[in-house]
Amino acid sequence: MTHLDGTTPPSSAVTDGEPTAPTAPRRLLPLLRTQGGPHGNRSWATCLYRCGNACDHPEPNTSGNEHVQDVIRAAIARRTVLGGAAAGAGAMVLGGFATTSAAAAGGYDAGASPAGAVPGKQVSTDPFTPVAPNRRDALTVPAGYRLNVVAAWGDPVVPGAPAFDVYRQTPEAAAQQFGYNNDYVGVISLSTTKALLVCNHEYTNEEVMFPAGEYTAEEIRRIALMSHGMSVLAVERPTATAGHWVRSASSNVRYNRRITGETPFVVDGPAAGHDRLKTSADPTGKRVLGTLNNCAGGTTPWGTVLSGEENFNQYFGTAGAIPATHAASYRRYGISASSERGWYQTWDRFDLAKEPNEPNRFGWIVEVDPLAPDEPPVKHTMLGRFKHEGANIAIAPNKKVVAYMGDDERGDYLYRFISTDTYRSGTDAASRRHNKQLLSKGALYVARLTGDGLEDGVWDGTGQWILLCTDTVSNVPGMSVADVLIDTRLAADKMGPTRMDRPEDVEPNPVNGRVYAALTNNSNRGSSYPADEANPVTRSMVRSAPGAELTAASGNRNGYVLEMQPVGGHTGGTFVWRLLLVCGDPAAPETYFAGYPKDKVSPISCPDNVAFDSRGNLWVSTDGNVIGSNDGIFRVPVDGPHRGKVESFLTTPIGAEACGPLITHGDRTVWVAVQHPGEGGTFAEPIGLWPHTHRYPRPGVAVVWKA
Ligand code: FEO
Ligand code: CA
Ligand code: CA
Repeated sequence: MTHLDGTTPPSSAVTDGEPTAPTAPRRLLPLLRTQGGPHGNRSWATCLYRCGNACDHPEPNTSGNEHVQDVIRAAIARRTVLGGAAAGAGAMVLGGFATTSAAAAGGYDAGASPAGAVPGKQVSTDPFTPVAPNRRDALTVPAGYRLNVVAAWGDPVVPGAPAFDVYRQTPEAAAQQFGYNNDYVGVISLSTTKALLVCNHEYTNEEVMFPAGEYTAEEIRRIALMSHGMSVLAVERPTATAGHWVRSASSNVRYNRRITGETPFVVDGPAAGHDRLKTSADPTGKRVLGTLNNCAGGTTPWGTVLSGEENFNQYFGTAGAIPATHAASYRRYGISASSERGWYQTWDRFDLAKEPNEPNRFGWIVEVDPLAPDEPPVKHTMLGRFKHEGANIAIAPNKKVVAYMGDDERGDYLYRFISTDTYRSGTDAASRRHNKQLLSKGALYVARLTGDGLEDGVWDGTGQWILLCTDTVSNVPGMSVADVLIDTRLAADKMGPTRMDRPEDVEPNPVNGRVYAALTNNSNRGSSYPADEANPVTRSMVRSAPGAELTAASGNRNGYVLEMQPVGGHTGGTFVWRLLLVCGDPAAPETYFAGYPKDKVSPISCPDNVAFDSRGNLWVSTDGNVIGSNDGIFRVPVDGPHRGKVESFLTTPIGAEACGPLITHGDRTVWVAVQHPGEGGTFAEPIGLWPHTHRYPRPGVAVVWKA
């Protein structure tokens, strides 16, 4: 492949780069902090730029929901004993779960399934040797697998984009090039050898991106705004069975597109045009410039991509006074006058005193049609406003569209949307036009999970979807439909949902019909509020460095994967649930891998994104490993004799988290977005240089396949 400087890197640079001593001039940026953040291995820069130091602020959720059991720690000890006794037989302790078929799971529409399995070298069935925990500055895959970088920060996206020059970057150039910190990965197939790659660009890390002294603060902000958003990029492979994908120069580049922090969006749904969405620049309340902090997402059965606006609060601030009318709402979303990004100094719309409604225009699920490059993307108010990780769709037997969503904040909630209208199969223009309206009308719910007690030795119970509103009727006392949708967190607080340990990606498994949620961690669990059966861990074993002893830390540091079985299908009112994984080092007593023998699983910490291959295996990417390794991607069977067998498929370079993942093309291709490689250093003092094409690291998207 060719990189942004026009050269073709040696294959070792992208397949297996070992740490390379940086040779760039060493100048410290004025903002340089000591490496190592306040939250485990997470660098201070990740904390600051990605989520605005959310863990250093009080939790925005001060509601008193669901303080059920204060005896969980003792119960964990008991469950550990039971779990140990049941190791290998844990799959039998299934409570109310159906164990196999999609029919038992409520009949997931096969139309939403990924491409069917084909014989050959599939990652779904291949018995690879798991990648050992490591701290390499490399994307490391199992023996026998190969990889290449498809696109990285600065690569041209829009035809005619200027060549990237890190010393002469401009907002105009950034708006045409692959943005920073790729997160969600979607792939829309156009033929057996051609596709569109759709990526989110979640946030910028100015310390790593910009050489010190080359740009003013104003220039940095303007370039950073354009480096956010999304990319649509034509890609291709040489043959219909190859795993090697590259950027395409075919006529499909007509679809190539950058969506930035200034791209016009249409607002739809019940809150569109509401007074609370109007600003001086947009008196209609229906046209917003840009999308920010786009984290995970989902590709819909009708071929569009959904993307979650997550930690949007950090972009707003003011030197003035926050209007009293907005204070309660701001507080619940963590919006405050202080903003280290300082964007309000460049743009009035990010100044809370000048444009107090502008934050109400972020925090939504957005929908982009990669096949309609001239069509403005849409912000869907019907799916509520919170720190959206993403949204993933299931089609119910009655053809209603169901979206599952997580609000990624300590102690916040799981959500579900059900459409009013029904899905039309078919790829004709009329069907697509119809389906693109499905997220505009429907009903929004929040989840309450109730444990059935620890006597059974399993973290499990039942769940209920609590209606917040439909597009015409509010179910929340004292709040209109628009208020429920704009202040979804405040609305949910009134309805008694369960406070969860940072719900990230939530996705239905198209093979078994169950829904899987990554609950990444919660340092406050057990201190700010008690544990419950769905969020049981208040004391975790962590490791400060590779090979170091495990030590105890307060709270849930390693996260869970929650498995939910809808009762009556995806549109039913209830579900049964259990924790599939309690993550961490298998040597830690609190860990649990669906009962699979602990000596046969890979350590896993901080699950973030989930995906499925065509056989229904769960794939989990992680963010923020606190057990002495880089992050990675793991394969986990969820049915059959190997249910719970966690195996590390790859590890990301130093400083990076693993995003995506996505398994495509008959389980032959694994897509991974390598986000924030080298984070924790600076441009002058990088701690990593992946993908080893330049003297600075570059976030990028890679594919992995069996050689
Ligand atoms: Fe952007 Fe919740 O991770
Ligand atoms: Ca139980
Ligand atoms: Ca994420």
